[in-house]
Amino acid sequence: MAVPANDAAPAAVDATGRPPAHVAIIMDGNGRWAQRRKLPRIRGHREGAERLREIVEECARFGIKFLTVFAFSTENWKRSTEEVNGLMTLFRLYARSEADALVSNGARFRFIGDLAELDTSLVNQILELEKRTKGGNRLELTVAVNYGARRELARAARMVAERVAAGELQPSEIDEETLNSHLYTSRLPDPDLIIRTSGEHRLSNFMLWQSAYSEFEFVDDLWPEFTTEKFRAVLARYGHRNRRFGAAGG
Ligand code: IPE
Ligand code: IPE
Ligand code: MG
Repeated sequence: MAVPANDAAPAAVDATGRPPAHVAIIMDGNGRWAQRRKLPRIRGHREGAERLREIVEECARFGIKFLTVFAFSTENWKRSTEEVNGLMTLFRLYARSEADALVSNGARFRFIGDLAELDTSLVNQILELEKRTKGGNRLELTVAVNYGARRELARAARMVAERVAAGELQPSEIDEETLNSHLYTSRLPDPDLIIRTSGEHRLSNFMLWQSAYSEFEFVDDLWPEFTTEKFRAVLARYGHRNRRFGAAGG
């Protein structure tokens, strides 16, 4: 369902009065949700895709400009072939089924991660969805598939080294911005808020560089249980955080 532009609710704000521009979510707990119901794990992933659809709409409604979600890590290949194949099929179906809803919500879709190991048909769906949603300027939805922060950082280091080897850059010129500009996320602001569901208190190789000053919310709900009400409660808590970025506290 499309959210009309004039239906925008004010976003929760932080102590300095700024809404979170960028919310990132580690969508964890799909497998446990299914196992508790004696269902195959893939049913949990399918239910999780429904929650993502709702949270995307809620972000558009709240005026959150950037939403990034972690859908599959570079370590998730360790899972059974059945689960991995099920997930890849789900990503393909999602890319196809969500196109219209994303366009009508003014959302622009973008992928981050390593495309090289993904199936050609999935890569084509991803590229197609990026193309179809190019005009969206209300919300940027970034989906991390086959994403790993260490791989992202190694890739950035390699690209910088190649520029040095080509004589385009002096080692003395390399600074934080140089590295940042070679990350998958170079066009995104750092996440203001990182949410992880399922009660695990870790990043699991997500946005290691970008999270330097992010606020964290670890919630016990499994991802398929993370309703828009729960999301709103998290945003309200974010609104009471005092972000100092190293400056003296007031
Ligand atoms: C998150 O849910 C989705 C992916 C990692 C693909 P999990 O599948 O990790 O669910 P749990 O943590 O096993 O419950
Ligand atoms: C992190 O969850 C990756 C995603 C949510 C896509 P995992 O379930 O893979 O993380 P660990 O293994 O519990 O650290
Ligand atoms: Mg997990």
